[in-house]
Amino acid sequence: MDRKHWYEAGLDHVWLPYTQMKVARPPLAVARTEGCRIVLADGRELIDGIASWWTACHGYNHPYLRQAVERQLATMPHVMLGGLVHEQALTLAQRLTGLLPGDLDRVFFSESGSVAVEIAMKMAQQCWINRGEPKRTKFVAFKGGYHGDTMGAMAVSDPDAGMHDAFRGLLPEQVIVDLPSDAASGDALELVLARHAENIAGLIVEPLVQGAGGMHFHDAATLQRLRAVADRCGALLIFDEIFTGFGRTGSMFACEQAGVVPDMVTLSKALSGGTLPLAATVARRSVFEAFWSDDPQRALMHGPTYMGNALACAAANASLDLFEREPRLAQVNGISRQMARELAPCRDLPGVKDVRVKGAIAVIEMQQIGDIHALRARFVEEGVFIRPFGAIIYLTPAFTIESHELSRLTGAIVKVVGEGIAGGPG
Ligand SMILES: Cc1ncc(COP(=O)(O)O)c(C=O)c1O
Repeated sequence: MDRKHWYEAGLDHVWLPYTQMKVARPPLAVARTEGCRIVLADGRELIDGIASWWTACHGYNHPYLRQAVERQLATMPHVMLGGLVHEQALTLAQRLTGLLPGDLDRVFFSESGSVAVEIAMKMAQQCWINRGEPKRTKFVAFKGGYHGDTMGAMAVSDPDAGMHDAFRGLLPEQVIVDLPSDAASGDALELVLARHAENIAGLIVEPLVQGAGGMHFHDAATLQRLRAVADRCGALLIFDEIFTGFGRTGSMFACEQAGVVPDMVTLSKALSGGTLPLAATVARRSVFEAFWSDDPQRALMHGPTYMGNALACAAANASLDLFEREPRLAQVNGISRQMARELAPCRDLPGVKDVRVKGAIAVIEMQQIGDIHALRARFVEEGVFIRPFGAIIYLTPAFTIESHELSRLTGAIVKVVGEGIAGGPG
């Protein structure tokens, strides 16, 4: 089908994400992807700065991933995990638990990050029911946090970060506080917990980098403080590594940099190397043991139809092979240094509030962005795909990006921000 046909025929029937469909500019029609390039249907080629919401860590169409998926497709694309298991899912579960620290030992598969978070929340609540403390139903979550778009995940995301305003008052009430990044916020958290201690099921945080809530960074000490606080009030500590997992912050998992073992971890995005939808909620042995019983009522009643999809698990196993065989973390380091160097001039540009880099994440925080649609289009004119949100322009490229491609991304940012377009009134 030619572009005109599928684009024009389908556009009036699709509902796009995070989009006011009435005023949004028409989306770009993509013909194919290759490495760090997005090839548009009209023949233009864009260097990709986002890696499809941080999933495509090895670049697009990596031949090793493609072959693994093709091999699996020929044998068995999918089989339900109810009463059945298969090699790819079990191998992946074993490998993930081997990579994660401590006794994070049991993997529950699902198909999206939000659902992995819902499952973590259900696991935490039922863990306390099974342990005979049913009043522990609430979660402590943090300003600037984002954990997904389903009801439970929205309830633990920052209500003021702008994503879910329409749902204010409709979500189960949780305790949202500042991250304990200094003595004052640490004391404030202690106070809140002292007040709610026996009602808290768990604390949930994106370790080191809070992504979609504004790309805020915090340090390892903050995570150590959270571990200590959770232990003191007996609550479970959940690390949402859906953004930070698989090398993005410079180590395989962000929790490693803090030396903290959470009670649960959620994973998705780069888990399958950007090929197929897959997510996981990984629990420590003590959490799993709360469900281990002769009583069927104590089982975890959750089971997404496509959980542990064989194609997705094959892709994830192949992605882990690539992390073992290719120097991904060294590449992240190199990207980090290059982005810090090449984006430093932004600090002196008008309207720039902050420039920060962590691992393969670079953030230019503006005082404000006037016309975000115009800014996005301006980047496309420069031959790059960069998707600012709020007051944030950011890069999260594939770890395989070539140095000259990365320079095209940073160069476009320096140029476009320098034009003053970013700070202008909307
Ligand atoms: C930290 C974090 N948690 C959860 C999610 C939700 O994942 P999904 O979009 O796959 O539902 C995201 C997505 O951006 C995320 O960054």
